[in-house]
Amino acid sequence: MQDLVTVILAAGAGTRMKSSTAKVLHKICGQPMLAYVIDAARKAGSGEVIAVLGHQAEQVREAVKDVAFVLQERQLGTGHAVMQARPLLEGKAGTVLVLYGDTPLITGDTLKQAYEAHLQNKNQVTVITAHVQDPTGYGRIVRDQGGRIRAIVEHKDATEEQRAIHEINSGMYFFEIPALLKALDKLNNDNSQGEYYLTDTIEIILNDNGSAGAFLINDSTEILGINDRAQLAEAEKIMHDRIVHAHMKNGVTFILPETSVIGSQVEIGRDTVIYPGTILEGNTRIGEQCVIGPYSRIVDSTIGNDVHVMNSVILESEIGEKTKVGPFAYLRPGSRIGCNVKIGDFVEVKKSEIGDNTKVSHLTYIGDAQIGKNVNMGCGVVVVNYDGVKKHKTVVGDYAFVGCNVNLVSPVEVKEHAYIAAGSTITEEVPAYSLAIARNRQTIISDWVKRKGLDKK
Ligand code: UD1
Ligand code: CA
Repeated sequence: MQDLVTVILAAGAGTRMKSSTAKVLHKICGQPMLAYVIDAARKAGSGEVIAVLGHQAEQVREAVKDVAFVLQERQLGTGHAVMQARPLLEGKAGTVLVLYGDTPLITGDTLKQAYEAHLQNKNQVTVITAHVQDPTGYGRIVRDQGGRIRAIVEHKDATEEQRAIHEINSGMYFFEIPALLKALDKLNNDNSQGEYYLTDTIEIILNDNGSAGAFLINDSTEILGINDRAQLAEAEKIMHDRIVHAHMKNGVTFILPETSVIGSQVEIGRDTVIYPGTILEGNTRIGEQCVIGPYSRIVDSTIGNDVHVMNSVILESEIGEKTKVGPFAYLRPGSRIGCNVKIGDFVEVKKSEIGDNTKVSHLTYIGDAQIGKNVNMGCGVVVVNYDGVKKHKTVVGDYAFVGCNVNLVSPVEVKEHAYIAAGSTITEEVPAYSLAIARNRQTIISDWVKRKGLDKK
């Protein structure tokens, strides 16, 4: 195939979003909508991608990588927008694909098929069209008696008869670059909106003895444009459905998938079961045979095989295989949990390492610590990592046993195989194989209650 360049129109103001964020940067399943459009273009075989920016151009420039940008200072219409890319198209011989930055549901597969049809039919232009229930507002596809496309007429410029047409212009096209540039030269803004319509290029090309085609797609949801938050939510639903179905196809079980939120970049291994209310975001990878959820949120984390995560939150952390987390655990950024570990209820871990086979079963805080292998952290252990000014580090060696309700005042070290008695506040190193008790001895004052007259009858 010859070279395919893509021009993405994204200069519009997006007024109806009522947002200080550029429309094309609003996210769908965790990714800016523009990223999906770029992705689809690349899947269709496009190398170079050019985005036409206008409103909030700086924001978009900063957020999107590997794309060339051109500026359309005033938005004088879709034809005018494409004219801005002229310097980057001039002298090229291949095909240009025109897409919109706010139409993120278009798939690479559909674009590929349309591109093949475009090349096969040797068209100068092929427009992607769809049949919709309510064509109000869209450009209508006008065909001749032989069924060939004649023109696109904008809703505002259409006659009653033309408005009855339900085949609409998606706004996506393949053009042969020389034919497009020639047609752009002939565009005018002599229409009801005073804009340079890209749609007029169809007639111009046909009048120039060129050939034009329409590629009708079955699934009109692919051309859904996002103009407001309601359409954003609708697109999120459709995209989420696609994501979940792709995982199901790969062998992942979802229980009530409509209750989960799975980001587009998330990877999940086969035979993993995702329970209701699970949110997997960002660059998260889940292994095989895991049970995730119910009601868990995992962001930018890597989870090994055979891990159970129940009612817990895990952020920017790593978890080794066969480990169990939750219910109600909170793993904060920078936590590296080994294999076959238990992180139980109401345990919080922050920026700490926990070795294999270690148990942290209940009501514990571990911050800025390095905990070895086969350690037992009793109920209610607190790593006292903050002295009010600085954070300090605690180290617990392999096979150590830390009793219930122990405070480890950082910086402090507990050597391997050491024992710490319950209720101790540890401020100094505990040597290997020794027992540390750091609490007052118990005192018994006999009959104290009676002497105080506090005994109840
Ligand atoms: C356009 C088409 C219409 C089609 C519809 C599909 C034209 C004249 N009409 O109409 O046939 O059915 O899309 O959604 O092309 N943009 C710019 N610069 C501009 C104008 C627009 O970058 O000067 C961008 C917008 O940001 C948007 C896209 O182009 O992403 C479409 O613009 P919009 O004004 O929404 O076009 P419509 O009037 O909906
Ligand atoms: Ca539109």
